[in-house]
Amino acid sequence: MISSLFFVANWKMHKTLEQGQTFVKEFLPHLSSSNKVKIAIAPPFTLLHPLRGLLKGKNVFLAAQDCHWEDRGAFTGEISPPMLVDAGCQYVILGHSERRKYFGETPLLIGKKLVSSLKAGLSPIFCVGETLEKREEGKTKKILEEQMQETLEMLKDPPSDFVIAYEPVWAIGTGQVASPEQIMEAHGFIHQWLQNHWRNQVKCLVLYGGSVTSDNVSDFMGEPMVQGALVGGASLQADSFSRLIQESIAKRWPEP
Ligand code: PGA
Repeated sequence: MISSLFFVANWKMHKTLEQGQTFVKEFLPHLSSSNKVKIAIAPPFTLLHPLRGLLKGKNVFLAAQDCHWEDRGAFTGEISPPMLVDAGCQYVILGHSERRKYFGETPLLIGKKLVSSLKAGLSPIFCVGETLEKREEGKTKKILEEQMQETLEMLKDPPSDFVIAYEPVWAIGTGQVASPEQIMEAHGFIHQWLQNHWRNQVKCLVLYGGSVTSDNVSDFMGEPMVQGALVGGASLQADSFSRLIQESIAKRWPEP
């Protein structure tokens, strides 16, 4: 199992240029020197290119929050994977539950985005997770299976590098983080799926997302199956995001 940790700041529809620049200036001095920790920031599209300059050589990667599946064309308002690469992105978040819920994204559509992102050289951060209703019906694993199967079967070959974020919909932005047992159960299922379908050919990190803060991250970050976090609200302030990372490092690799 991979022993590094990956933290992704999902800013959603927040921050002007000035606010984004201020975040980066405040955040960079707190960067861990550990090469076991990787960080990406997913700002709104408008901040990708300006932040690229500030992050250059700093070991903080840029991620987009979404993309279109075509490289170019008459798709008003859309942004393509090659454009994201051009703006400095290495990662793209795909299948976030807010995209599924508010923009009607289906597993098939997410699969098309996944294929074209990989073709452009981006590493997808593929989000899966159940609603409260499905959890209460005891269908969490069934939903995860469907979301992974229907989307990932569109890839002809397993990718060389991949990230999956388990984000229970009921935990996103609600302050209600999943329990360590719930996280372990879902992560165990995802790791088993990857083992069954992709054997050991793919270097895949499995993250947790949903109301993660510096106060709760150490409850589950000691578990090797959890390899990082996709963070929304707590990633908007440089001090809370860096504290969350420090807490995770302390939990994962305690000082002797
Ligand atoms: P949250 O968002 O940390 O604010 O719950 C997580 C996400 O939506 O990726």
